[in-house]
Amino acid sequence: LATTEHLNNGVEMPKLGLGVWKTSNANAKESVSAAIQQGYRLIDTAKQYGNETGVGEGIREGLEKTGLNRKDLFVTTKVFNGDQGYQSTLDSIDGILERLQLTYIDLLLVHWPVDGKYIDTWKAMEKLYHAGKVRAIGISNFDVERMQDLLDHADVTPVINQMEFNPLQQQKDVLAFCQHAGIQLEAWSPLGGGDALNNPTIQEIADAHGKSTAQVIIRWDLQRGIITIPKSAHIERIEQNADVFDFELTDAEVEAINNLDEAKPSLWYEDFAWHNEDGHGFKDNVDTW
Ligand code: A2P
Repeated sequence: LATTEHLNNGVEMPKLGLGVWKTSNANAKESVSAAIQQGYRLIDTAKQYGNETGVGEGIREGLEKTGLNRKDLFVTTKVFNGDQGYQSTLDSIDGILERLQLTYIDLLLVHWPVDGKYIDTWKAMEKLYHAGKVRAIGISNFDVERMQDLLDHADVTPVINQMEFNPLQQQKDVLAFCQHAGIQLEAWSPLGGGDALNNPTIQEIADAHGKSTAQVIIRWDLQRGIITIPKSAHIERIEQNADVFDFELTDAEVEAINNLDEAKPSLWYEDFAWHNEDGHGFKDNVDTW
């Protein structure tokens, strides 16, 4: 859990963390606090998730209970679609810091590429980066075309592209582009929102190692060099998902999972409009903040 990846700006980021999408505010506090106590150092949230406040409380409690310092943690959050644009992105940072009870963010991502706005959003994030409010800036859900467009306009190269990535949806074109451009790929919904957990090939590999299918998928991410943030609202699963450092998949097993790609995004993803500016169309608890 302490193992890190060097991002392209020299910042070290843990390879495995806790995701909290679809986690309520109350549960976010409990999950984040428990995760920190279990050794997690990377926590990934977003204004869109409506749980930054709970995450902030969980961070505070986790630090208190472990005696760790803020700098021992790596906290990611994302610029909300409704906040995109230059000035509104700059203005959004105060609310983020207040809800999370932090003085800086480790990694700030453009949550979705809102067409017509993501370049201005990026320019504001570069300013926040140079001002020291965030230690690194990156993107999420950018396809190859939009990544290229961003790079054509950016002064600071994104450190990360966080994409839906799991055995059934491997984003091969995005991954190849990222590797070429020095952008680290990070997986959201690494367990396929649960779908990949019942795959027979993965089950067979899990049985061979005496591990769960979730653990095999997380291990596969790590061996592929992909930063991963499985979500669970259950403390025992949060613990299980971090217990992946005592076994190794063989090359043949990694290859068998590589071959499961169906290029199959989750259903809601197809409903999502790139132009969505106000967050409607997300099925999240947008009314809670
Ligand atoms: P829950 O939160 O009820 O534990 P993803 O990170 O790909 O979005 O997947 C999250 C889904 O997988 C959630 O439904 C979560 O359920 C479930 N999940 C997370 N960890 C495990 C695990 N170790 N075993 C089984 N299901 C899990």
